[in-house]
Amino acid sequence: MQTTRVVVPLEEGGKDPIVTSRTNPSRALPLRLIQLFGMFLSLCIAFWFVSVYAIRHFGVQSVMTSVKSTFQPCFNQENNLDLWIKPPSNLMHTMSDNELFWRATLVPRRKKYPFRRVPKIAYMFLTKGPLPLGPIWEKFFKGHEGLFSIYMHSLPTFEPKFPPNSVFYNRQIPSQISEWGRMSMCDAEKRLLANALLDISNEWFILLSESCIPLYNFSVIYHYILKSRHSFTGAFDDPGPFGRGRYNDNMAPEVNLSQWRKGPQWFEVNRKLAVNIVEDTTYYTKFEQFCRPACYVDEHYFPTMLSIQAPHLIANRSLTWVDWSRGGAHPATFGRADITEEFFKRVYGGQQCTYNNQPSSVCFLFARKFAPSTLEPLMNLSSKVLGL
Ligand SMILES: *[C@@H]1O[C@H](CO)[C@@H](O)[C@H](O)[C@H]1NC(C)=O
Ligand SMILES: *[C@@H]1O[C@H](CO)[C@@H](O)[C@H](O)[C@H]1NC(C)=O
Ligand SMILES: *[C@@H]1O[C@H](CO)[C@@H](O)[C@H](O)[C@H]1NC(C)=O
Ligand SMILES: *[C@@H]1O[C@H](CO)[C@@H](O)[C@H](O)[C@H]1NC(C)=O
Repeated sequence: MQTTRVVVPLEEGGKDPIVTSRTNPSRALPLRLIQLFGMFLSLCIAFWFVSVYAIRHFGVQSVMTSVKSTFQPCFNQENNLDLWIKPPSNLMHTMSDNELFWRATLVPRRKKYPFRRVPKIAYMFLTKGPLPLGPIWEKFFKGHEGLFSIYMHSLPTFEPKFPPNSVFYNRQIPSQISEWGRMSMCDAEKRLLANALLDISNEWFILLSESCIPLYNFSVIYHYILKSRHSFTGAFDDPGPFGRGRYNDNMAPEVNLSQWRKGPQWFEVNRKLAVNIVEDTTYYTKFEQFCRPACYVDEHYFPTMLSIQAPHLIANRSLTWVDWSRGGAHPATFGRADITEEFFKRVYGGQQCTYNNQPSSVCFLFARKFAPSTLEPLMNLSSKVLGL
């Protein structure tokens, strides 16, 4: 605005001499011209100073109209590769799921990244809200900045109160109500994956709950996942009533009975499979219509779909240890009195699985379900047992 006021007198001053020079005697002309030229020059200098001042102090936009062509390159400086590879600074956004899923599945076609990319693990917490075992995780993540990202999906009414120095500070994503065993649970998992996909450095995606704990330190887990040829999604063919018994013939031809799989919901997938999950609409439609309680969709949808689309990429086992030995519909929840060194001998001992097609005794990197009361004894054992 300031500059326009400068420009107007300049133009008027320039018009005046043409009118006056016709009426005045010819001798007066050179002096008058020199005066006018001097005035013009000082106005130019004043204008230049005002422009520079305005650019420095008010930013470029305020003088945009008058100096557009000269200063244009300044506007383009921000428009470099950073724009595409910097993770969003704020996880809150106003995109609908439909918009978010579309945005998250934009995938570069070239194999090599044209910048130094340190692959990160996205730790995705599917929670009701508070994290009673948060201090264990704070200890787990400490010192490994740059190798992980955290995302939290909670009840929409939950108001997080993590202090600014917490790893969970500002890590909530826009959330919706999700019910166990229903499609809204898979929607929440997709939402976590999609938000995490927006950070191009996230290479692996792990789903956890508030009752999970890590069984090893960060470096052990990072390297186990980094060096694995497979993603860890549980998927098995259960011939019984709680497996094949939940299959509905209407699933065909997309899914036939021999392709039907079951697995725990706690997955670890790489970026490629994360995109597969977020982009899917074909299987979604079938599962949404024909897998309703007592078919628990979160136990079948991803295991079945990934077994069909990428059987060679999944290990068919989960990384999360649970105890089904007590029987019933839910795995055991451990309380304060359970947390002893003896207990952990049972958790770590007797594991047998394959890792990169070789037999291995390290099969589980996480464990559940731990009640809030286990926090204190777990913290006491965290360095001795969990290696934190
Ligand atoms: C993590 O645990 C492994 C195995 O217990 C150990 O060798 C390593 O030093 C630990 N790393 C850190 C950073 O504590
Ligand atoms: C199910 O699909 C598989 C793979 O497409 C096929 O080999 C098999 O014959 C099908 N089974 C049935 C019962 O349709
Ligand atoms: C997982 O199971 C599929 C069959 O659904 C099989 O093709 C694949 O080889 C298995 N993965 C591993 C690592 O054994
Ligand atoms: C944890 O350690 C503290 C300090 O050593 C001790 O006072 C407390 O009783 C321990 N708690 C449990 C549950 O082991």
